[in-house]
Amino acid sequence: MANFAPLSSADEPSVAALIAARPHLSMHAFDGLVLEGVPLSHIADQLGTPVWVYGAGTMRARLAALKAALHGLGAEVHYAVKANDHLAVLKVFAQGGAGADVVSGGEFLRARKAGIAADHIVFSGVGKTTDEIALALGEGIFQLNVESAAELDMISQVATTLGRTARVALRINPDVDAGTHAKITTGKAENKFGIPYDDAAALYAHAAGLPGVEPVGIALHIGSQILNTAPYRAAFARAAALIRALRAGGQTVTRMDCGGGIGIGYGDEPGASPDALAGAMRQAFGAMGLQLMVEPGRWLVGPAGLLLSSVVLTKGDARFVVIDAAMNDLIRPAMYDAWHGIVPLSAGNAVGATSLVDVVGPICESSDTFATGRALPAMPAGSRVAILDAGAYGAVMASTYNARPQPAIAMVDGDRWTVIRRRQTYEDLWASETIPDFL
Ligand code: LLP
Repeated sequence: MANFAPLSSADEPSVAALIAARPHLSMHAFDGLVLEGVPLSHIADQLGTPVWVYGAGTMRARLAALKAALHGLGAEVHYAVKANDHLAVLKVFAQGGAGADVVSGGEFLRARKAGIAADHIVFSGVGKTTDEIALALGEGIFQLNVESAAELDMISQVATTLGRTARVALRINPDVDAGTHAKITTGKAENKFGIPYDDAAALYAHAAGLPGVEPVGIALHIGSQILNTAPYRAAFARAAALIRALRAGGQTVTRMDCGGGIGIGYGDEPGASPDALAGAMRQAFGAMGLQLMVEPGRWLVGPAGLLLSSVVLTKGDARFVVIDAAMNDLIRPAMYDAWHGIVPLSAGNAVGATSLVDVVGPICESSDTFATGRALPAMPAGSRVAILDAGAYGAVMASTYNARPQPAIAMVDGDRWTVIRRRQTYEDLWASETIPDFL
């Protein structure tokens, strides 16, 4: 037997605890793991693996819960399209009354294609091009969140050329630590995002004098996967102080975009509560007569998506479980050391004695690892697993590295399901490539 360092899984939730913490999942003796009302093995049987599965009912319920928490504030939800930009996902949110937060021309057009009106779309991002600004203004976008003085000038020029008025919010960098992973924190002074807090008042006044621009509010987004309200409270307090100062100086400020970042429980811990976020918003802005907005992504879609995969083989006395999904499909473990629950699809496989295994993909990189030292029941070749909470920053961050075609995507809604993206073929991989004549 190979010699490995001892592993500890003491703090990790069991398969049963993972399922119990997720109301959209259940384990049944015959059907195995069920998402909403659909046994996931049916989808894997018909579409093969790896395959993504999204729960529309779960997304709808999460949007409804968020809207209920924000209702008393009259706050609007702009879904952060970057978390999962599939047209069917956007349609679920459009039907639920959400607008969109986009960061590129492509995301803007996806949101429009799914039926989200331009006047329900906010455009964020540090590097909007003049073409993207023109596209958004031409369609009558609700708001551009401006991240620099240079961008403000670009917007003024484009808007003037088009004969439009751009409603802009200044995205401030409140210099608070969101207490999350370094690669997904955005609200610290050293991050590239937003306008330095101390520069914001002068820039707002400058914007008010620019042709084609109407400053309407303040925006912030301090980071992602935030699990407590303290960083929100700190950032909101700074924004509220700025708005008071702007108003005292005679400026008009009518909107406050509170950003996204609400975290989810990847283990069996509870996620962040929308009620707590709403409470922080009410405390900071409640009496200010502002149109409030939020722009969450992960919280709405993360738990609603799973990546199903099959065990190809085991090696090293079953210490390594090699599955047919890989880091090109779901890069979060490799990129952020993210922990994702892994649950067998069959009830029989879910109850056996556990041993500590590494669940790895087939790609030629050591970081192609989904779990290290994870206590899982025996997973023989051909058995299947679901990688949980992969609905946010999953398929959108995928690549075809190692010439691996992109998996199919299925959408479940209650007890119905259908394919919402076909599996890529090998021919698709090179369909847009040409070999030049001189070769
Ligand atoms: N608004 C802005 C301006 C953003 O930059 C982001 C995310 C959001 C809203 C939505 O944040 P959420 O509610 O989803 O946390 N790929 C990373 C997360 C990157 C987040 C980037 N910005 C991950 O897989 O954890």
